[in-house]
Amino acid sequence: MIETAPFSIHALELGPMENFVYLIEDCSTGRAAVVYPAWEVPALLALAKRRGVRITDILLTHSHHDHINGIEDVLQVCDAQLHLLKDEARFWGSNLDLPTLHHGGDHITLGNTDIEVFHTPGHTPGSACYRIADRLITGDTLFVFGCGRCDLRGGDPEQMFHTLKDIGRNLPANTVVLPGHNYAVKSSSTLGEQLEGNPFMHFDAVEPFVRYRMFYHDRHRHEPYEPVCKGHDMPASTR
Ligand SMILES: [Fe+2]
Repeated sequence: MIETAPFSIHALELGPMENFVYLIEDCSTGRAAVVYPAWEVPALLALAKRRGVRITDILLTHSHHDHINGIEDVLQVCDAQLHLLKDEARFWGSNLDLPTLHHGGDHITLGNTDIEVFHTPGHTPGSACYRIADRLITGDTLFVFGCGRCDLRGGDPEQMFHTLKDIGRNLPANTVVLPGHNYAVKSSSTLGEQLEGNPFMHFDAVEPFVRYRMFYHDRHRHEPYEPVCKGHDMPASTR
């Protein structure tokens, strides 16, 4: 018997902010989920058409404009169910038409493909990551060699510290990280590589992490982000 993968994930880089939009395809049923619809929706729909799939689900990682501005356009042509975390719906306050609201630990079924929902606050209160087998779609929580800002409304660097610690502790090192933006020298990575080279994964205490995230990082690192050796995140005098 020949076993084929139950799913495939396709990435598009769209828009002026280097957003990655992902199409998760359930191979046996032809269903697909979009994480998340934004910017050039025709490019997304053309990809779905090329793959011969129908978009039945829309998954939001969070509610920032650059990750949601194509929702209406997709819903006009696809009968799709919208998913997000309850905490993010409350934070967003949008009058969405009956989305499915989740909590961390929930599972979304896309045909024969299981999608696990992680609540990963820090960038926004209800940010989510989605795990599909050994892949983790991380939105603006974890970037390749970076992490999401915590200085916008609803951001919380202490929560981000704990979120990143939980991801690093609880998922296997071979997990493939699929971020929400193309800000680094490579478009995806493994969690093991991030534990080694992502400065935000290096901190053992919350206070220095908060100082690094809020005051040091943006002044001293620039895109495309490269790996940083542990111990070289910031001078000892500023720790
Ligand atoms: Fe964001």
